[in-house]
Amino acid sequence: MAGIDGEEFRECLARWASGVTVVTSRAGEDIHGMTVSDFSGTSLDPPLVTICCARESMTTELIGRGGCFAVNILAADQEDLSNQFASKKHEMERFVGVEFDQAETGAPMIAGCLANLDCELVATHEAGDHLIYVGRIMASRWHNREPLIYWGGGYRRLKGLVP
Ligand SMILES: Cc1cc2nc3c(=O)[nH]c(=O)nc-3n(C[C@H](O)[C@H](O)[C@H](O)COP(=O)(O)O)c2cc1C
Repeated sequence: MAGIDGEEFRECLARWASGVTVVTSRAGEDIHGMTVSDFSGTSLDPPLVTICCARESMTTELIGRGGCFAVNILAADQEDLSNQFASKKHEMERFVGVEFDQAETGAPMIAGCLANLDCELVATHEAGDHLIYVGRIMASRWHNREPLIYWGGGYRRLKGLVP
């Protein structure tokens, strides 16, 4: 079977609504991060999460080198942050103007997010042009705020649903 082409794949996936995260990592003095929507909870015991990262991404390389990552789940008012961490234009200035602190693993935990999950990298799986990283959650924090949603190629809001 030949399977589907790239355009069909993109059209189908654009119909999947997801949250938006910024995944960050550290190896020694190097920090970096990128916008990621391919994130999911994976296991309760032990507490595991999974992210899918493009092989060619700088963040993917850094996670592999540093052995850790933080998932920063974005709030509705952090659309600019999502764009900043997805843009190649200022790729080396991703953290300019961004408030963060260092998690237990060393990964940057960004302020103002819905939740921050600090993870130790425990498994890596190959998946075509991406790597699937499985992380064990070592520390976390969360706040009740409205989430940023990505659907149909654009950012959306859940208006008024969060008390
Ligand atoms: C809403 C949104 C979701 C994204 N989700 C992912 C993702 O799940 N995995 C991924 O590898 N890239 C994803 N990207 C693309 C990366 O953020 C983008 O390619 C980034 O520039 C990579 O940066 P780096 O190479 O400096 O690490 C997403 C971009 C946007 C705008």
